[in-house]
Amino acid sequence: MMQGGKGDRDSFTSKFGVLAALAGSAIGLGNIWRFPYVVGQNGGGAFLLIYVIFIAAIGVPVMMSEFMIGRSARLNPVGAFKKNAPGTKWHLVGMLGVVSVFIIFAFYTVVAGWTLEYVVQSVRWILFPAKFGFESMNNDALTLFFSDHYDSFTQGIWRPIIWFVVMMCLTGYIVISGVKNGIEKYTKILMPIFLVLLLILVSRSISLEGGREGLVFLFKPDFTQIREAPFRIVLEALGQAFFSLSIGMGTLITYGSYIKRKENLAGTAVSVVAADTFVAILAGIAIFPAVFAFGIDPADGPDLVYKTLPVIFQNMAGGLIWAFLFFVLLCFAAITSTISMLEVIVAYFSEQLNMSRKKATILSMISAGFLGIICTVSPDVFGIFNASPDLMLPLGGFFIVVFIGWFFSGEKSKQELSSDGAFKIRYYRLFMFLVKFVAPLAIAFLFALGVYSKVINIFPSLG
Ligand code: PHE
Repeated sequence: MMQGGKGDRDSFTSKFGVLAALAGSAIGLGNIWRFPYVVGQNGGGAFLLIYVIFIAAIGVPVMMSEFMIGRSARLNPVGAFKKNAPGTKWHLVGMLGVVSVFIIFAFYTVVAGWTLEYVVQSVRWILFPAKFGFESMNNDALTLFFSDHYDSFTQGIWRPIIWFVVMMCLTGYIVISGVKNGIEKYTKILMPIFLVLLLILVSRSISLEGGREGLVFLFKPDFTQIREAPFRIVLEALGQAFFSLSIGMGTLITYGSYIKRKENLAGTAVSVVAADTFVAILAGIAIFPAVFAFGIDPADGPDLVYKTLPVIFQNMAGGLIWAFLFFVLLCFAAITSTISMLEVIVAYFSEQLNMSRKKATILSMISAGFLGIICTVSPDVFGIFNASPDLMLPLGGFFIVVFIGWFFSGEKSKQELSSDGAFKIRYYRLFMFLVKFVAPLAIAFLFALGVYSKVINIFPSLG
């Protein structure tokens, strides 16, 4: 039986393995599916600017704090707080994290399952173009075709459920094999392929005629839209930052607990944050030029990549082969994230409730499976879950930085950050300033304003 004890605990074995697993968790549907449409709905460049500021000033310190909590305790989020702050209520923060991950895991795996449907469908579209009549369709007809496909697929019951279950099983298969032989092994293969695919798509997209406008939209800050609903938009940027970096819920406490003592935590955090942001921006560069070149509305919403991209691909030389590549890429990105979520729940079950890894994995899959199936059949539940990161993750992140800033001893912080003296920590005072003041105050402020504006939206009379 796998225990939380020190001796027999699995860990990542190489620096590349650590980076692949962490970047694999951070980079996912959040970068390629969620980021472009959230940017599209919130005015483009100006939103991107706010997002990048949050990533640097709040994202990096929260991520480092999670690593410190996880690696010092070598336990799951609940166990890690219990060990670092025995006899206090801090473990509830770990529990909040496990619950958030559980919810996100369920809805995320649903969307991840869609990628499989699209991988399979794009093979059919490529092999039998005549059957679908693509040749004779103009762009309007194509748009109608892919919209209908998306609507009938997502509103159907069985196919989304089947792909959801398949995705869940693939995730479970990797997680059951363990940290080193499962997670590290697969992310080391999947992430490099993912990057190559993305670069191919980017190079195709920026050479499209008429795509320049898309780059202007993405990079040129225009604050008019933000002025209309500043609080809501700013909270969305914060929520997106947390979601995309996989922070605020203990995923990186868990992965941090598998990082060896010789690794440099600050360097690792900065690399992961940089890679995640780079990929989100690359995804924007792959998508917006194409969206503008074909006259599609960038504020289209969650179905942007599923409804509109196939139309765009069909218009390009090579046609739907691009769609196939894109959905394979999305699928790889998604699965390296779902395994990091499942691992949190498995680590919690196996270490806190003393279950074997296998039993913990199966139990987590079945329980999250029920929730996911509810998500696939009820658009309302899906919508609520999709919106949940905006609130739950900043809340978790707030407590995590407050814990490191005010309750974790300076001595221990230095030990973790310097890896027991192996690295110099010249940034120590800046880091402490960020975790003690900047990050908690900024999160609390943005959170309060964001909640207020959401409430006003629902009950306008209160305004
Ligand atoms: N960061 C992942 C993404 O961008 C999502 C994720 C959330 C992963 C929570 C793990 C935990 O897609």
